[in-house]
Amino acid sequence: MSINKLLLGDNLEILKTMEDETVDLIYLDPPFFSNRNYKIIWGDEGEIRSFQDRWAGGIDHYIAWLKERVEQMHRILKSTGSLFLHCDWHADAYIRIYILDKIFGEKNFLDAIDWCYEDIGGKSTNYFKRKKDTIFFYQKTNNKKRVFNQPKKALSESTIKRYGKYFNDKGQISYQKLKDVSPGAFAKLKSIPQDLSEIWLDINKGQPMSDWWTDITAIRKGFTEAIGYPTQKPEALLERIIKCASNEGDLVLDPFMGGGTTVAVANKLNRKWIGIDQSKQAFKVTKLRLAKH
Ligand SMILES: C[S@@+](CC[C@H](N)C(=O)[O-])C[C@H]1O[C@@H](n2cnc3c(N)ncnc32)[C@H](O)[C@@H]1O
Repeated sequence: MSINKLLLGDNLEILKTMEDETVDLIYLDPPFFSNRNYKIIWGDEGEIRSFQDRWAGGIDHYIAWLKERVEQMHRILKSTGSLFLHCDWHADAYIRIYILDKIFGEKNFLDAIDWCYEDIGGKSTNYFKRKKDTIFFYQKTNNKKRVFNQPKKALSESTIKRYGKYFNDKGQISYQKLKDVSPGAFAKLKSIPQDLSEIWLDINKGQPMSDWWTDITAIRKGFTEAIGYPTQKPEALLERIIKCASNEGDLVLDPFMGGGTTVAVANKLNRKWIGIDQSKQAFKVTKLRLAKH
């Protein structure tokens, strides 16, 4: 199969035609088992852009449907590859246990990333507002060549305040500096590194990012990025995932492409890409988006 392709059809049938171990990174954002139909009426001509997320056979039907697709994704992923599956509270527990742990193996689980999108809106009065999605991150195998370009985040003001006395003149907090300034605190550290020159925090480079992300806003009507596709995900989210788990020239696949966020970002970041969707509207919107990008 050649690269940089938009493919129209049921992803199960298309995935079955793809060769074993050929894809570096898969991101999927399937229907979430929300039992809703998503619809946006877009543009002056009132075009309806929609997809269905209703499951007459309940959760068993949904899990069986998604599982056979993820089996194909696992087959076509390289042994060095990674998969990110985006879901939410409706089915996250089922997806992790009955699909991902079964197909990839528990040992290949890496993170359940919490994407906490914002705190406005929401109607709940007798429980906490549900304002996060979960993105499961699995590796195909424990291969040292798997790409992980560790994202870094700036140190918070409170971290700087708390640890400032341990900064050396390069703005780094090293174990050596900690030992010099506070031998007592150093002695209490549970795991003292063998090599004291190891850098712990670097004010310039920031610190390794954790698996809860609060800095990326969900797409709202009126945002310049909004292309009028229901449940469109932000480019910043895909940028983080694609940059951390692939390098330039790698092949990125999104089998539930929707409005084409993944393929547009992959294209911008010089990755090869394949996008699949069964909706003609998704196909059209993505084509237009790529032309403008
Ligand atoms: C949640 S949306 C994806 C949104 C996308 N991440 C974005 O940023 O625009 C899910 C998409 O999956 C597509 N879809 C659902 N079942 C499918 C199937 N069996 N094969 C291919 N596409 C499917 C729907 O048409 C819909 O566009």
